[in-house]
Amino acid sequence: MPIELVYHFLPQEKETQVLRFWSTLTPEEQQQLISQIEKIDFNLLQLQKQLLQASPSRYSPIEPFMDFSFSGQTDNFLAGKQLIREGRMGCLVLAGGQGTRLRVDGPKGRFPVSLIKKKSLFQLCAEKVLAAGKQAGRPLALAVMTSPENDAITKGFFAENQFFGLDPAQVSFFCQGMLPLLDAQGHLFLESRNRIAEGPYGNGKALHDFFQSGIWQKWSQQGIRYVNTVLIDNPLADPFDAELLGFHAGQNADVTLKCTEKGKPQEKVGVVVKENGHCSVIEYSELSEEDKHALQPNGRLKYCCASLSLFCFSMDFIQRLAAEQTPLPLHKAWKAAKFVNEEGVTQLSATPIAWKFEMFIFDVLRYANKVSALLFPREEIFAPLKNYTGEDSIETVQQALLKRDRQILRAITGEEPPSTPFELAADFYYPTPELIARWKGRVPTTSYVEADNP
Ligand code: UD1
Repeated sequence: MPIELVYHFLPQEKETQVLRFWSTLTPEEQQQLISQIEKIDFNLLQLQKQLLQASPSRYSPIEPFMDFSFSGQTDNFLAGKQLIREGRMGCLVLAGGQGTRLRVDGPKGRFPVSLIKKKSLFQLCAEKVLAAGKQAGRPLALAVMTSPENDAITKGFFAENQFFGLDPAQVSFFCQGMLPLLDAQGHLFLESRNRIAEGPYGNGKALHDFFQSGIWQKWSQQGIRYVNTVLIDNPLADPFDAELLGFHAGQNADVTLKCTEKGKPQEKVGVVVKENGHCSVIEYSELSEEDKHALQPNGRLKYCCASLSLFCFSMDFIQRLAAEQTPLPLHKAWKAAKFVNEEGVTQLSATPIAWKFEMFIFDVLRYANKVSALLFPREEIFAPLKNYTGEDSIETVQQALLKRDRQILRAITGEEPPSTPFELAADFYYPTPELIARWKGRVPTTSYVEADNP
């Protein structure tokens, strides 16, 4: 195709640099590039460019959020268990990210994490859904959000592993979108000769995309009224958290945040705050140094309530979000990226070279009429796998999993767990009366502990 005709697809003249290898492309490669250009939302691209001109993002005056309740209420747990038994909750796992900090190629959910069996993040999550279903006496619904970069591999991984024991009918997949990256001058650029650099657009539109995918309607018809949202990179996240659900339903809230106390000023977690009197989350990348270090008179962090992006949402709220086409703000970050060199070869930059644009899931809080928060001990709910080494790496995750397995086993058996490393099957996290009866007073003798092998 003559290049002049392609200009028609590129309303902004300054973006023609993305056609610089045009004459070397095969007709098929030319077609791939045109298809990608056709999908670009040029109005949104304008907003991306405007964001680059804007002064560094600054939030409105904030106050600490202190209206949280503490976990540990048996009533909430029992109420939530009953709702799960009635089939009122589904789990949405967010797995569209790139895992750049972990240096993984492909979906982060394939990463082997468990101590003995080296189960992947996806397997741990799916087996919890299976075990929660055994406890509830019914199959439970799981939705997995992927991105165009990892959708096919993720679905393939579930299929190759027979859905980790789940019935494929229980599991739904939907795919989030991407946004173009921009270079230092604010222009589109190529990642290969026939592909414009793009990245997943963050987890912000998860609920909108979940609704648009048709899964909301399917779940609604099944009687599901609440969605528990977890991140795939936190293997201590509970896909069917009965206590959170019981609390959320009792509060009649649109959203309930599952939180923990922030550990230290530089910890990479969002903080729950009051902004203009309304509950919101400020991401760690945007919280000022002053606010990160601010202390209460008792010496604890002033902004101490950490949001872990674990939520319970009411299905009605999700429907309202989607129906009202509620816009979400864009956030920018300066990142390393793939680019094509003058010889036409793709390289990954060693240093940041591109602006990446994302939306954040907690920005939907601004549309909620009622927001609640439940604070949990960190060791029960949070073991993030973010980095290749050091903090939040496989070593810290495995230590946290072992610690939690010990707590769970001790509570069920009433005995001191083995001092050597071991791993519990997911059934222990959602024990049936039979499992409790079988394990009372016993100590396991194998390193991988299954429900029926004392
Ligand atoms: C995230 C939270 C942060 C929280 C922390 C806890 C958001 C926006 N930030 O930060 O407030 O304290 O986790 O560990 O949630 N994802 C997608 N699509 C994307 C990008 C990410 O599905 O386009 C998913 C990832 O697969 C992952 C999760 O969202 O499951 C978090 O992604 P990441 O970008 O690593 O968030 P953090 O910066 O760690």
